[in-house]
Amino acid sequence: MTQPRKGTALITGASTGIGAIYADRLAKRGHDLILVARNRQRLASLARRLSNESGRKVETVEADLTSPAGLRRVEQLVGTNGDISVLVNNAGVGASAPLIESDIDKMEDMIRLNVSALTRLTYAAVPGFVARRHGTIINIASIVAIAPELLNGVYGGSKAFVLAFTQSLVHELAGKGIRVQAVLPGATATEFWDVAGTPVHQLPAEIVMSADDLVDAALAGLDLGEVVTIPALADKSEWDRHESARLAMTNRLSSAIPAPRYNLHTHVNA
Ligand SMILES: NC(=O)c1ccc[n+]([C@@H]2O[C@H](COP(=O)([O-])OP(=O)(O)OC[C@H]3O[C@@H](n4cnc5c(N)ncnc54)[C@H](OP(=O)(O)O)[C@@H]3O)[C@@H](O)[C@H]2O)c1
Repeated sequence: MTQPRKGTALITGASTGIGAIYADRLAKRGHDLILVARNRQRLASLARRLSNESGRKVETVEADLTSPAGLRRVEQLVGTNGDISVLVNNAGVGASAPLIESDIDKMEDMIRLNVSALTRLTYAAVPGFVARRHGTIINIASIVAIAPELLNGVYGGSKAFVLAFTQSLVHELAGKGIRVQAVLPGATATEFWDVAGTPVHQLPAEIVMSADDLVDAALAGLDLGEVVTIPALADKSEWDRHESARLAMTNRLSSAIPAPRYNLHTHVNA
């Protein structure tokens, strides 16, 4: 059944993997699409298939989000196209090698894509969303945001940024009619793993989710109003307890007096 129109969803990293599944699902939910990635052929064939299947308008933007010119082009589009109602910040790369075996220039490129591009596109989207009191931002983080020991540390750090930034957006945009969600996928069967340096078939099958299930669960989490969605975590109260403990500590993190365990007022320096 054809759904009523709901505005345009712009999805970064939409040429394959998780982003391509978001494109499929958001078209089925009634959104026109703008698909952003570097691979023109893949974008074009996905756009053709999705517009044939869904009847939605599907545009593509070929852009490398690690290049200033490519990023500015997409920023400008996000900032000026008043029909965009959903931004999915999905484009990202990872690495499985430890710091000491990683190329620093590649690490910086990762930060540029996973952190800087996501931040700049969010900044481009928010003023219009606030003015229209309507819009959804979905930021694809990772479980390494809260488990940085699992993969490369720069990747973990970049995803911790995505989680913290999303939580701060939820706080700052409260009451303005905007939905913000961070999605924390665990291992998901996509080309991500080839790019990261460990083919996905080397992982135990029981920890790897399909991209279809991942996106369907993440959208179900969005519909439930979750700020943070961890599709693989069976017992949500584990996350809720983690968050409650963090928030409870917040008021005790700043003080004029150092903690007693540092003994500054009882010892004379030698
Ligand atoms: N797969 C997992 O296990 C997993 C787990 C946790 C989180 N995630 C996160 O999920 C998101 C999507 O990953 P995925 O698993 O779907 O990976 P994927 O299959 O490798 O897809 C990555 C997408 O990002 C695009 N991309 C890469 N570099 C880009 C650049 N410089 N500029 C613009 N687009 C670029 C790629 O398209 P082009 O090559 O055409 O540019 C592709 O569409 C990422 O943020 C990743 O960190 C994945």
